[in-house]
Amino acid sequence: MSGKPARGGLRKGLTSYGDEGFSLFLRKAFIKGAGYTDDALERPIVGVVNTGSAYNPCHGNAPQLIEAVKRGVLLAGGLPMEFPTISVHESFAQPTSMYLRNLMSIDTEEMIRAQPMDAVVLIGGCDKTVPAQLMGAASAGLPAIALVTGAMLTGSHRGTRVGACTDCRRYWADFRADAIDEAEIAAVNNQLVPTVGTCSVMGTASTMACIAEALGIMMPGGASAPAVSADRIRIAEQTGAQAVAMIAADLTPARILTPDAFENAFRVLLAIGGSTNALIHLTAVAGRLGIAVDLDRLDRFGRETPVLVDLKPSGQHYMEDLHAAGGLATVLRELRPLLHLDALTVTGRSLGEELERAPAPFAQSVVRPFADPIYAEGGLAVLRGNLAPGGAIIKQSAASAALMEHEGRAVVFDDLPDLVARLDSPDLDVGPHDILVLKHIGPVGAPGMPEAGLIPIPRQLARQGVKDMVRISDGRMSGTAAGTIVLHVTPESAIGGPLALVRSGDRIRLSVAARRIDLLVDEATLAARRAELPAPPDASAERGYRRLFLQTVTQADQGCDFDFLRAGRFDHRVPRGDEA
Ligand code: FES
Repeated sequence: MSGKPARGGLRKGLTSYGDEGFSLFLRKAFIKGAGYTDDALERPIVGVVNTGSAYNPCHGNAPQLIEAVKRGVLLAGGLPMEFPTISVHESFAQPTSMYLRNLMSIDTEEMIRAQPMDAVVLIGGCDKTVPAQLMGAASAGLPAIALVTGAMLTGSHRGTRVGACTDCRRYWADFRADAIDEAEIAAVNNQLVPTVGTCSVMGTASTMACIAEALGIMMPGGASAPAVSADRIRIAEQTGAQAVAMIAADLTPARILTPDAFENAFRVLLAIGGSTNALIHLTAVAGRLGIAVDLDRLDRFGRETPVLVDLKPSGQHYMEDLHAAGGLATVLRELRPLLHLDALTVTGRSLGEELERAPAPFAQSVVRPFADPIYAEGGLAVLRGNLAPGGAIIKQSAASAALMEHEGRAVVFDDLPDLVARLDSPDLDVGPHDILVLKHIGPVGAPGMPEAGLIPIPRQLARQGVKDMVRISDGRMSGTAAGTIVLHVTPESAIGGPLALVRSGDRIRLSVAARRIDLLVDEATLAARRAELPAPPDASAERGYRRLFLQTVTQADQGCDFDFLRAGRFDHRVPRGDEA
């Protein structure tokens, strides 16, 4: 077989018995128990990560994809070997899927390293799975190619097109405001997720799919095909075949996930109005390769990269519409002048070469021309100020224009239980111009930085028709959510960040134009409050994974990766400044 390393395939990573010949003899004896021939066992091996799980309907098509990937591997002369890792779904992970992302990345990395394989196909999809797999594969260093399960189709409720989960939140907000009744909220519940697959809007899953394609670590055209389409199955077959080709070419993640590739990914993140979560994930993936993310330079990128993709929550359409409009290639074509077109992809060709090979453009209304964007700046803005010295994020493309410059009175919730206990109380002292502040939902605080940053509008205000308020937290929000929400306030309140000092009645000023978020309280008062703060949580009182998490998780500006998983040396900063 061409392309098989001298000690590749089944000979890789022999179990330590002190006798290599015996180790291989024993391994072959066992695998032959599954009916393999010597011919099959001489082929280059492509590991196929199976993240199918009854708890993960976003990966409900994993069996069909695995079958197609295996077909591709076999057609290209390789031997596919499917293996499981943990799988994480947004709604089935307590306290939050983010708490488990790093565990999944460790599982992925170590099983790639431990088992004999020459390349690996990463089948992921639901929000945290793709970043976890890219983080693990980047550290493992073997040729790796991402395949996403693809977005679900949209449903229909009383003549209105619906999809998870921007519409989930919209209907729930209507229910809270008594605008729809129990029967209708139950009826819409049946229609929001009409097929298997990932959320159908530009949430975190769709964003990470687009980013993986922009990074070059996925087959060109692989981001947008719906989960239940023939296109998705064909991409899976191509992915399997390409994995075999990557072995001979030694196309490792380090060769593909370069500073150029990350800059391309940031351009795409901004232009698609992508999820705020993706910024944390990209920072974590880059951190595995010794590439630091510079938030202030990213903000400058944002000012020159418009939002072009008209998908919810920033726009109108759904992922299947982006696919029908030509997929990510249509976006990349518009961004061409801003991209590094010579960045290498999994095909061995450059991003620019792949764009030349993509189907010709045609008239469509989902991706706007660069000169006529849906939002003139990129989707994300980076805020600084005395409330967030380490930075904070706002998804300006999904915020209310009227609230982008706003000063208001803080209404503070100390943590999630406090929010649950008081938010809907008729006694809550809150008005429509106040600013809601939620503490203790950062990486350490909750723990796991839950997607609770989209604080619901208090019921008394929702009933008055209030749809949006400025909301501030050290947590995250779902990529499917919209509103004037300041997120990822760093450092977080649980470790004594300035957010911990805010009290109800304080004045806070948000200026997206000036990129500022400030607590308007004098320094002497803040110093007195700081002296009264409780000590951070004592991680040594915990056990197991929770203890590991609390002791080693980094802040949002370092991707919330565990400190010991990040690269030992950082030689690059992206986006690059004048030195580039
Ligand atoms: Fe899996 Fe949205 S819940 S992608």
